[in-house]
Amino acid sequence: MEYKIKRGSPEKQRSACLVLAVFEHKAMSLSASIIDKTTDGIITALIKRGDITGECGEMVLLPRVDSLPAERILLVGCGSQEEFSSRKLNQITADVIQKLQQSKIKEATFFLPELNIEGSDIARRIEQIIIQAEYSCYQSDALKTDKKKNSKALKRITLFIGDRSSLATARQALITGQAIASGVNLARQLGDLPGNICTPSYLADQAKELARDFKMKAKILNEKAMEKLSMGSLLSVSRGSRQEARLIILEHKGGADKDAPIVLVGKGLTFDAGGISIKPSAAMDEMKYDMCGGASVIGTMRAIAEMKLPLNVIAIVPSSENMPDGDANKPGDIVTSMSGQTIEILNTDAEGRLILCDALTYAKRFKPSAVIDVATLTGACVVALGAHASGVFSNCDPLARELIDAGEKSLDRAWQMPLWDDYDKQLKSNFADMANIGGPKAGAVTAACFLARYTKAYDWAHLDIAGTAWISGDDKGATGRPVKLLCEFLRGRAGLA
Ligand code: BES
Ligand code: MN
Ligand code: ZN
Repeated sequence: MEYKIKRGSPEKQRSACLVLAVFEHKAMSLSASIIDKTTDGIITALIKRGDITGECGEMVLLPRVDSLPAERILLVGCGSQEEFSSRKLNQITADVIQKLQQSKIKEATFFLPELNIEGSDIARRIEQIIIQAEYSCYQSDALKTDKKKNSKALKRITLFIGDRSSLATARQALITGQAIASGVNLARQLGDLPGNICTPSYLADQAKELARDFKMKAKILNEKAMEKLSMGSLLSVSRGSRQEARLIILEHKGGADKDAPIVLVGKGLTFDAGGISIKPSAAMDEMKYDMCGGASVIGTMRAIAEMKLPLNVIAIVPSSENMPDGDANKPGDIVTSMSGQTIEILNTDAEGRLILCDALTYAKRFKPSAVIDVATLTGACVVALGAHASGVFSNCDPLARELIDAGEKSLDRAWQMPLWDDYDKQLKSNFADMANIGGPKAGAVTAACFLARYTKAYDWAHLDIAGTAWISGDDKGATGRPVKLLCEFLRGRAGLA
């Protein structure tokens, strides 16, 4: 999609469609009221007749309007003016895009950035509209042969701003919004690719290509290199697969040399069959999404590189398959992790923590200011929080707070869960330092407690995105979460936003 920022007089805009906001109780946006005046009260008349009430999500398309150079008007109900919020702006943006696509309109001018939202300025609103518009236009047709059949009409969105003084801010917001949107998009694309294409080596190649395009450093470790590092836990998972594991390391150097980096670790399990503790076959295809943590971390790197964020950030993506095989982990097997701690593998399907623990130990060498891992780690987290929030676990409460706030601000919510030692005790093993499962209760918490045993050297947070990374059912597809949250957090750490 092409975006433009424009200022001027609403009634003089030449456009295929003016998108204008109408609120409840006969209120309308500034631009809507200007258009209303130039058109002899066309909007007022519609309100009077009850054709538009301003209810949130309501839409009325006026195909022709005399006395305006624009071809059409799309009136959008935005609910109560006082209660208008960022979440509503997102919903409205998505609805408007859908309506424009359905109506085969090629170009439109949005009078939405001017809508007041408490706690949100013009830059934020523009970023948000662009991110949501790109989200709505995403198509998962990379592997369909007839792409034309699905091609969408809408090609350009002009964002109208009322006042000249915000022009520079608006232009910057456009760039930032597009950078974040392309990060979300990359995470979704990688997530939606099937396991036979998106293998560990494929993910590594994508990371290398990204590094080339955006001047980042990429380093890929193969199994031999990981053996040298004694990553016995990670390698025990990949032993059961014909695809060789990879450890992907991406480095964005936007800060000073001496500045400690933030390290992002993403679970890149390209297909999780469960291993010998094999999963039931229903919906097993969705376990191609078990690399969405890795994809979100790679997407975030793309976004911050594109926006040239002044911060040092390192991404580590341990990538493997989890398959049943003659050489796969067996329940009861004991492996030694890079940290030296031994693990009794009581369930081979709890493999995410097995690949993450070695990556988290590896992260220590960067002397990080904080480490955040992102993983589709447990079905239990889906039970706890559903699709609305990612789970946050942290050994540092201020860091957890920062992430939750970033999630709130970027409309990519997360919620904190406990990491108490009462739960940690469930990981007891009779034969090794710990078991890789903690029994049926509080599965999301015991998984996080397992990781906490490898992250004592630094401030650390874990995001369980099992419920948020993709949508099941008719609209099955990756969401790109939590790229928005991570970008927001990193911008905060860089002293921006
Ligand atoms: N990748 C899964 C977690 C998962 C399951 C995410 C369903 C989203 C939807 C993970 O590797 C896994 O299998 N976890 C097990 C852990 C259990 C064996 C302790 C789970 O959640 O069932
Ligand atoms: Mn599993
Ligand atoms: Zn898994």
